[in-house]
Amino acid sequence: MNNPSSIKSLFVLFEGIDGSGKTTIIDSVNTLLSKEALPVTVLREPTSGRHGQKLRTLLAEKTEPDRALLLDLFITDRLEDVTLNIKPALEKKQIILMDRYYYSTAAYQGRTVIDARKIVEQNQKLAVPEPDMIFFLDITPETAFKRVTERRSSKDIECFEKIERMQHIDEIYRAILPETTRFLNAGLSPEVIAGQAVSMIKDFL
Ligand code: TYD
Repeated sequence: MNNPSSIKSLFVLFEGIDGSGKTTIIDSVNTLLSKEALPVTVLREPTSGRHGQKLRTLLAEKTEPDRALLLDLFITDRLEDVTLNIKPALEKKQIILMDRYYYSTAAYQGRTVIDARKIVEQNQKLAVPEPDMIFFLDITPETAFKRVTERRSSKDIECFEKIERMQHIDEIYRAILPETTRFLNAGLSPEVIAGQAVSMIKDFL
């Protein structure tokens, strides 16, 4: 690894189904990299901007939101994220730790694998920055479902997180993620997973 002053930008993406522990791992990776004085920016989609907020409201509704509307809003939110956050951070030579990107849109909004591949292509045609590294938090939908049900009320579960839906999303992820994706065993302790991710990130710098 180079010394911190000669560091290049790095765009690191974390993907995974709900309950895979992405957010916890990103927090730990951030802490570990920051301790070494590496310049880290943490970003997430949906963003906290106006489109992201609208998306969170829609996703929290009891009735399933219109798929085309969601797709449209996720892309609008992403384009704004690219302009306001992603490109500026890359220009400032930051290490971006990104919580979800267009592979989430493909896996969650894609009805089939073919459909999901089209969503990936649609995003790539928009010339959004490509991640340098992708981590996938690897967990069975059954285990992820158990984790989610432990932390949320049963009312939420009935509405949003049916196990079949998670299985579908998981299958699409596995079909569309690039071959270079690094699979992290999400069943290990957060410290171990974060340590593995940090060592791979440092090798890449
Ligand atoms: P997120 O805040 O990452 O939830 P969690 O921290 O529980 O993983 O994402 C909120 C939800 O948005 C999540 O269920 C996945 C969904 N989502 C999509 O459906 N499409 C997308 O393009 C993105 C980025 C997220």
